Amino acid sequence: MDSDLRARFLEGMSRAATFVAVATTDGEGGRFGVTISSLTSVSADGDQPSLLACVHHLSLAASAILKNRAFCANLLHEGQQDIADLFAGRAGAGEHSARFGRTDWQPGPLGQPILAGATASFECRLATALLWETHHILVGRVHSVRLSDSPAALLYGQRAYRRAVHLPQGD
Ligand SMILES: Cc1cc2nc3c(=O)[nH]c(=O)nc-3n(C[C@H](O)[C@H](O)[C@H](O)COP(=O)(O)O)c2cc1C
Repeated sequence: MDSDLRARFLEGMSRAATFVAVATTDGEGGRFGVTISSLTSVSADGDQPSLLACVHHLSLAASAILKNRAFCANLLHEGQQDIADLFAGRAGAGEHSARFGRTDWQPGPLGQPILAGATASFECRLATALLWETHHILVGRVHSVRLSDSPAALLYGQRAYRRAVHLPQGD
């Protein structure tokens, strides 16, 4: 690929502030979790609500989600940068079991790990998956949503963690 195109793509995308989530999974394929910014709502009006996440094909979490056929998308609270770093392997906890050992969590109704303090946790069954180039596009059907009392989500943009601020209405 043209390296200038790749660099401009990455720079352009870094300007899109996104929320930060941890995709967790548990079951026969093991317990794994990975920090993602690729969580997207797909539909609120199908048989059940649905969402998608893109996870690198080499991530152990991706293969586990494909095997477990279920995952939980934990939308992090703005105070949870440490959890984002932990599940991105930036906090010296490369082993996924160590990641879970260093955060509070409990299994949801489908047995998927719900992280304490997440502003919203969407427990899903895997509906379909598509391997596109380097990433699995994972579509989940949402079975339950756990909401915390604090709605402020952690953001990531221009290569740094951020929080949303309210803009006054223009005249
Ligand atoms: C803010 C942020 C967003 C990320 N978003 C994604 C993503 O959407 N998909 C992905 O595969 N990796 C994403 N990563 C990278 C993974 O978290 C990281 O490569 C992974 O946790 C490494 O551990 P593993 O390979 O053992 O799973 C992101 C990292 C950070 C810090």
